[in-house]
Formats: sequence, C-alpha cells, structure tokens
Amino acid sequence: MTETGSNRTTTVVRTKQHLRERRAAMDGTVAVVMTMGSLHEGHLMLIERARELADHVILTDFVNPLQFGPGEDFDAYPRDLEGDLAMVDGMVDLVFAPATEEMYPTLPPMVSVTAGEIATLYEGASRPGHFNGVATVVTKLLNLTTPDIAVFGRKDAQQLAIVQSLVNDLDLPVRIEPVDIQREPEGLARSSRNLFLSEEGRGHALGLSATIAAAREAAPSLSGVLRVLEQATSGTAPYSPRTAGLRFDYALALDPATLRLVAPDHRGPTLVMLAGWVDGTRLLDAAVVQTTEP
Ligand code: PAF
Repeated sequence: MTETGSNRTTTVVRTKQHLRERRAAMDGTVAVVMTMGSLHEGHLMLIERARELADHVILTDFVNPLQFGPGEDFDAYPRDLEGDLAMVDGMVDLVFAPATEEMYPTLPPMVSVTAGEIATLYEGASRPGHFNGVATVVTKLLNLTTPDIAVFGRKDAQQLAIVQSLVNDLDLPVRIEPVDIQREPEGLARSSRNLFLSEEGRGHALGLSATIAAAREAAPSLSGVLRVLEQATSGTAPYSPRTAGLRFDYALALDPATLRLVAPDHRGPTLVMLAGWVDGTRLLDAAVVQTTEP
C-alpha cells in the first residue's frame, strides 16, 4: 500500500464501460472518494485517508443533477475538471468524470433510491428531494466502482448518516469511512461553495465556525450548548459581531445515533449541526461534542 507522495499514474475515464474495465484490472483493495468536483484541501484529506486505507483510490467527479432542486445552484455550481485533474494527478489511480447523459441516460431515472424519513428532516426539509438524489447517485457510484471502502466528510453530517443507513439497510458490501472537517485558517469549514463568498461574506460565514467553537466551549453542559445554538439562530450571540450577514436556517443538537433532537436528559455524544445562508450561498458546519451534564 502506498503511504504518501504523488506516485501513482492517474487515469481519467468518462464512460461506465471504461471505468468497469479499469476497476476489473485493479488488484488489492479499493477506496472511493465521491465528489462533485471543484476540489479543495478538504477533498485532498479524503483522498489522503483513502490512500492510507486501500491499495487503489478511485475519485468520482460528477455534479449530480438529481440532488439539486428547482431554483438551486446546479447551473452555477463550480466546475473545473482540468483544475481538479491537476490537483489529484499522481494521488489517485482513477478519476471517473462522466457526462450527465452517461450517468443518467434518462433523467429523472425510472427507478431511484428513496432515503426515507431521515431524508425529509433538517437539510432535507429545506431541500426537498436532495437526499434521495444523493442516495441514488451514491448507490450508482458504489455499484460502478465496487469499492471496499468509501470515504465521506463529516461536514455533511446528515448526508453521512444517510449514506451509512443506505449501506446498512440495503446490505451494501462497503465500509463507510468518515473523515473530520477540514477548516480554513480562520475556521471556515472547507467547501466548494466557499468560492461563491465575497471577502465580506467570508467574514459573515465565520459565524458558523464561531458557533461550533462556542458550543465546544459550552460542553459538557447540554443546556449551555442549547443556549449557544438558540443565541446563534436568534442573532443574539455575543461572540461574533459579524454574524449580521449570516442567516441561520437551523442550529440543532442531535443524537448522532438517531439524528433526532436530543432530549433534555440526553448525555453523551451530541451532534451540533448548522446550516445558514451568506450572500445567497448555503453553508453547513457540524461537530460532535460530549454533553455529560444538564
Ligand atoms: O458530498 C458531495 O459532494 C455529494 O453529495 C456526493 C456525495 C458526491 C454525491 O453527489
């Protein structure tokens, strides 16, 4: 297994058939990193983890139309395949970058995956259909790449929980490996959508990571964490005067096992999950804190 360094020959394939041929020729274990392109440092960490865990790494680079609702940023979503390839050259064995018609000969497909009630809550309530689109493309990409391991970031906490449930409930033969959020030096969680932010917007967006930091400080007191989240959504947080340009959609404390809101007597790991809008861009952040006191 390769440890570090840019020492692989990276092949790019655009069709399912070429992907299957290349995959069949791989000996040993395979990890997949699924992305919508516009790669950044956060994706490189997912790739690093995949390299640590498997003999071969497949990167998928596909902006999945099924997970965008009408009026969402599908057309504007940043696309830069050349830049992506330059960034991962020598780091992964294979890049699968299909055209939309290759992935979906009919759109919408006649059969798709429905992720159940968990997909209708929180992010799913604000983006109806989003997680069914994610579950469908993840299932297709798992079937196409047949990996031993699939690596996902913890920033999209609800997506990670849904992918894990997809794998458990449908008995898919793959291990899901979560990787911690990567942050920019000032704290902003790395995301392809950060490219949409103005300089001023980046300042406003820091209200998300400031909320995460305040929740961490308030732990292990659950009521302390809940107060931080309430102050964030009501715009009364004392720690970030620049949150004026950040409109929270939600700031929740969830049981990471069930993704349900924590009860007042909850003790143990607590998933703090945030979503907000800055400059018309939707941003997410998340962290797990330990709450062992009321
Ligand atoms: O997290 C993402 O970038 C996407 O939702 C994924 C998992 C690649 C599916 O399109």
